[in-house]
This record gives sequence, C-alpha cells and structure tokens, in this order.
Amino acid sequence: MKKNIALIGFMGAGKTLIGQILAQRLQMDFLDTDTVIEKELQTPVPQIFAEKGEPWFRQKEKETVRKLATLENSVIATGGGVVLDPENIGALRENALIVCLSARPEVICERLKKDTGRPLLAGEDLLIKINTILAERREKYRCADFYLDTSGVTPQEAAEEIIRFRQGRSS
Ligand code: S3P
Repeated sequence: MKKNIALIGFMGAGKTLIGQILAQRLQMDFLDTDTVIEKELQTPVPQIFAEKGEPWFRQKEKETVRKLATLENSVIATGGGVVLDPENIGALRENALIVCLSARPEVICERLKKDTGRPLLAGEDLLIKINTILAERREKYRCADFYLDTSGVTPQEAAEEIIRFRQGRSS
C-alpha cells in the first residue's frame, strides 16, 4: 500500500497547487477536502459558512477527512482549519505523511488579496486577520513530519523538496 501525502497549513500556503503537482509527479490521485465538500453539497465554502455556520462546516470537514484518510495512493490537500480538531490529524496520520506548508504573512496577504473564497479573511484589514488567525493556530500546525516555507520558492520547487523528503523517508 502506498502511503498518502496529506498537506496541511494556513490558507494561501499553496496546498492545492503544490498538491496537484505532487500527485501528477508521483502518479497519485489528488483530492482536496474543500472541493469534495463543495461537490457533495453543490455549494461553495463561503456560502456554507454563511448559511450553516462554521461549526457545521467543521463537522462536515471532519467527516470528509475521515473518509479521505482511508484512501490509498493519494495526495490530500486539506483546509487550513483542519488542525483545529486533533482527531483530523490523528485520522490522516494513520496512512499519510503529513506535510505542513507555510508562508510569511505578507506573502499570504499578497497571494490572497483578490480572493473572495475564504470567509474567515473576508472584509478589511487582511494582514491583521492573517496574523491573528496564524497566532491562534501556530502551535496546532506543529504536528507534521515535514515543514516547508513556500514564500520564496515556486510550486514546482516546493513539490520537488517534498518528493526528496519522501524518498529519504522510504530509503
Ligand atoms: C479555512 C481554510 C479554507 C477553507 C475554509 C476555512 C480555515 O481552506 O477550508 O475557508 O479555517 O483556514 P484553504 O486553506 O484551502 O484556503
């Protein structure tokens, strides 16, 4: 059985794009928890937050993580808040190498300033919001097998680094 790769980390760290490159390079399947939820409910994440609230979304996210964690040969990109429930990380860890992506707050701000798909960052003062949520979560992101700051690297370079780490792990 080929071990999965689970990508965790703050919004805008590059989980989806780097995950897609990784999956292509390693001939693995790619899944993104937010996309799976959106497809199942036929509703975009901001609308789910607005209509059902964050706790409801977190419950759905947890069910989705539990399902995806049982797959094989998959790169699983998670939503940035997946670390809020330690059981999510426990489920992923069963069969995945956990990779935490990060980026400097200013870089995240630049990447997300035109984005309208992140309800927790909607409205004014984007950098302040990023710093506040990052501070709340910093400790929770410290649960990975490998950490990578994507601030100064291309998504391709980031994927290469993860592949190198994974190869080192299995040799
Ligand atoms: C969230 C991150 C988002 C999405 C939702 C909540 C968070 O995913 O799950 O908006 O709490 O950090 P990305 O990390 O893919 O943006």
